[in-house]
Amino acid sequence: MSARDVQAVILVGGKGTRLRPLTLSAPKPMLPVAGLPFLQHLLSRIAAAGINDVVLGTAFQPQVFEDYFGDGSKLGIKIRYVHETEPLGTGGGIRNVYDSLTADTVMVFNGDVLSGADLDALIETHDSSGADVTLQLFRVADPRAFGSVPTDETGRVTAFLEKTQDPPTDQINAGCYVFKRSIIGDIPSGREVSVEREVFPQLLASGKHIQGHVDNGYWRDMGTPEDFVRGSSDLVRGIAPSPALPGDRGESLVHEGAGVAPGALLIGGSVVGRGAEIGARARLDGAVIFDGAVVEAGAVIERSIIGFGVRVGPRALIRDGVIGDGAEIGARCELLRGARVWPGVTLPDGGVRFSSDV
Ligand code: GTP
Repeated sequence: MSARDVQAVILVGGKGTRLRPLTLSAPKPMLPVAGLPFLQHLLSRIAAAGINDVVLGTAFQPQVFEDYFGDGSKLGIKIRYVHETEPLGTGGGIRNVYDSLTADTVMVFNGDVLSGADLDALIETHDSSGADVTLQLFRVADPRAFGSVPTDETGRVTAFLEKTQDPPTDQINAGCYVFKRSIIGDIPSGREVSVEREVFPQLLASGKHIQGHVDNGYWRDMGTPEDFVRGSSDLVRGIAPSPALPGDRGESLVHEGAGVAPGALLIGGSVVGRGAEIGARARLDGAVIFDGAVVEAGAVIERSIIGFGVRVGPRALIRDGVIGDGAEIGARCELLRGARVWPGVTLPDGGVRFSSDV
C-alpha cells in the first residue's frame, strides 16, 4: 500500500486550555510557529509523504481553519472540514468524520504534534502486521505525563495506560495512528469519547490487534507554553524538520516588515513576527514574538511567548511567560516562571517585580 491510498484526519477541535491566554483568540493549531500557523507544518509533512486527501475535525473556532487553508489547493492537497457542534473529544472527533472516509486505511493525527516521524514506515508496519490499529510510539525520559504503551516482542500493544505515575515502559503514544476504516465506524457516535481513555483500552479488551511502531525521529507535543517555545526554537534552528520551511535555517528568524534596532541580540531560535519592532539593546533568547508586538529598548525576553500587538516596555524582563494579545507590560516589570498576562491587560511601569531594585 502506498501513501496515496491513505486518507488523513487531523483533530483540531481542542480548546487548548494549557496555552491560554493565546488560545482564547486563536485555536492552538493556528498559532504562528516559525512564521506559519502550526498546522501548516503538519499539513506540509502529510503532503510531502504523498497523502493528498485530508479531513480536519473541527469544534472550537472552525472558521479560522477554513478561511486560511480553504480547499487545500495552495498546499497541493484536498482539505475538507467536518464540524462538531458540541466537542466530541478525540475519539468522538474521529468517529464524526466517518462519513467522509472512503479509503480503507486512515491516518489520524493530533493537530498539535511537531514531528519528523517517517509516515511511510508507519504505514508499512500497519500493512505488514495486519493490525486493526497501529500507534506511533515515541520514547521519552519521563513518560508520566503521556499515555504509556507497552508492547510485546512482536511489537503488539499489550496495554494502554493514560498518564500513570508508574509507567511500565518509556514508550508513549505519539498522537498519530493508522486505523482500518471499519474500526472507526465502531466508535460510538453522537457522544463524547476519548480515543486514549476509551477507544484503545476497549479495542485491547475485545482482542483487536493494536500494533506499536516506535519512531526515533523528532517529536514534541506543542500543548504547553514550555513545549511551544522549545518547538518553535527547534523549527527556527532547523533541529525540528518542516517541509514548509527552507532547509538552511539560522539562530533566529525575523519576518518581513519587522524592525530590529542596532545592538539588539536575537539568539536561541527567537522569532520576530511581521511588523514587530525590537528596540536597541533588547535581548531575545528563545523568544516567540507574534506579529505587531513591540519590545522596547533594553527589555529581556527569555523562553516566552509575546502575543499579537503586545507592548513590552523598556528594561522589562519576561522569563518563561506568556503575554496575551494586546497587553502592555510597563517599563522594568519582571514576569518570571510561568507568569501569564491576559489579553489587553496593562501593567504600569515597575508594577510587577521579583527583586527589590528600583
Ligand atoms: P488542552 O486543553 O490544553 O489539553 O488542549 P486540547 O484541547 O487541544 O487537548 P489535547 O491536547 O489533549 O488534544 C489533542 C488533539 O486533539 C489536539 O489536536 C486537539 O485539537 C484535538 N482535540 C481535543 N479535543 C477535541 C474534540 O473534542 N474534538 C476534536 N475534533 N478535536 C479535539
